[in-house]
Amino acid sequence: MFTQDIYINRRNSLRKLLPSGVILLLGHDEAPLNYAGNTYRFRQDSNFLYFFGLSLPGMAGVIDIEEGTDCLYGNDMDIEDIIWNGSQPSMQQLAAKAGVGSVASLKDLKIKLQLVIRQGRKIHFAPPYRGETKIRIANLMEINPQGIADYVSRKLIRAIVQLRSEKEDCELAEIEKACNTGYEMHVQAMRMCRSGVYEYQIAGAIEGIAAASNGATSFPVILSQNSEILHNHSHRNVLQSGKMMITDAGAETASGYASDFTRTVPVDGQFNMKQRDIYEIVLAANNHAIETAAPDIPYFDVHISAAQIIAEGLKNLGLMTGNIDDAVQNGAHALFFPHGLGHMMGLDVHDMESLGEKYVGYDDEIVRSSQFGTAYLRFGRRLKKNFVLTVEPGIYFIPALIAKWEKEKINSSFINFDKVKEYCDFGGIRLEDNIVITDSGCRLLGAKRIPITPDEIANVINIS
Ligand code: GLY
Ligand code: MN
Repeated sequence: MFTQDIYINRRNSLRKLLPSGVILLLGHDEAPLNYAGNTYRFRQDSNFLYFFGLSLPGMAGVIDIEEGTDCLYGNDMDIEDIIWNGSQPSMQQLAAKAGVGSVASLKDLKIKLQLVIRQGRKIHFAPPYRGETKIRIANLMEINPQGIADYVSRKLIRAIVQLRSEKEDCELAEIEKACNTGYEMHVQAMRMCRSGVYEYQIAGAIEGIAAASNGATSFPVILSQNSEILHNHSHRNVLQSGKMMITDAGAETASGYASDFTRTVPVDGQFNMKQRDIYEIVLAANNHAIETAAPDIPYFDVHISAAQIIAEGLKNLGLMTGNIDDAVQNGAHALFFPHGLGHMMGLDVHDMESLGEKYVGYDDEIVRSSQFGTAYLRFGRRLKKNFVLTVEPGIYFIPALIAKWEKEKINSSFINFDKVKEYCDFGGIRLEDNIVITDSGCRLLGAKRIPITPDEIANVINIS
């Protein structure tokens, strides 16, 4: 965790953004996998981690705005915990690490919150996304868990988004570490990308790299030679020459910061002409987006210009027709690029998604599109210095989507369906990098860019 002044500053900044009341930040408990004693990897709630830094189960933090106090709630370990799990620092010692002035036991939390309710003061909490957290909040506040959404604090959501969006130097250093581990994961995946190898062998190897870096993966590895499936977590195929393998994977550091990269590489290292033509378009869209992203530019516009590059490239290959601006305005590119250009990244790989993308990625000026494809853009608002984002354009040939659009004549004036059908067994290509917005533009995160040109990829696969 960072030094205590980081957490003190963050809590003081949060206090200033809310007029009154009490902020409740619940940490996570262990989550059972198949029985209570056999749990998933413990992952702390990211808001609790941001304001208190402690990655242990069974804690809650309360920031009292009027009193100007912070309190950490949790129970010291008993002798049985110590026998089975080893001893941990006391609550007092943990609170000191986070710069928190007082501690109390978990049973005192309900007493405190009930007092706040009797005083007619607001309890601010963020949208809970785990069932256990919903039940805990319902019990603490004596409200119906079904109606909890009515009590969520939009002021708190907006304040947290404001603070967590602009990454501090200490956070950028952690994200860089996650990116460097991501580099090792992807280069290893490329090295292993040979016909006859099972996808699960590669997925397992790169997950091991994340674990061996004193962290974990930032989300379950997406890796498949069925590369047209956007998020495929099944790894049972044996790689075949002529296919392309997509790997979308990143690391999470011990402190909780993420990376998220995608590379698409030909099995055995050499693209055929058809693959290379499409690959070059995606690479051009990726590079253009990185050249364009800068303070004050709406990311929505960067997304649209990536879509235009994709549409132009596909027109040059005879897959699209007509005026490119009109095609993109009508969403015709989304047959091939049916997702957004990227998302924020930080303590969550889709940073703050649990708070609601409407608050994280959009605002009064830039509202989410309802058009198929563009609607999946998670982040559209104007960029600011120290925002961290992914840049991840792609082109996919999804047989079911192609068949639907052709049958329903969707955007048929912009699509050459006869030509597109020649690509039905092509798969898909996505290239994802991680950037931080600087004073005048952006820079790639990570010490080295993961090999991305066809020659760089061929080198990694062929010399391995
Ligand atoms: N890397 C997975 C995603 O961005 O959804
Ligand atoms: Mn991503």
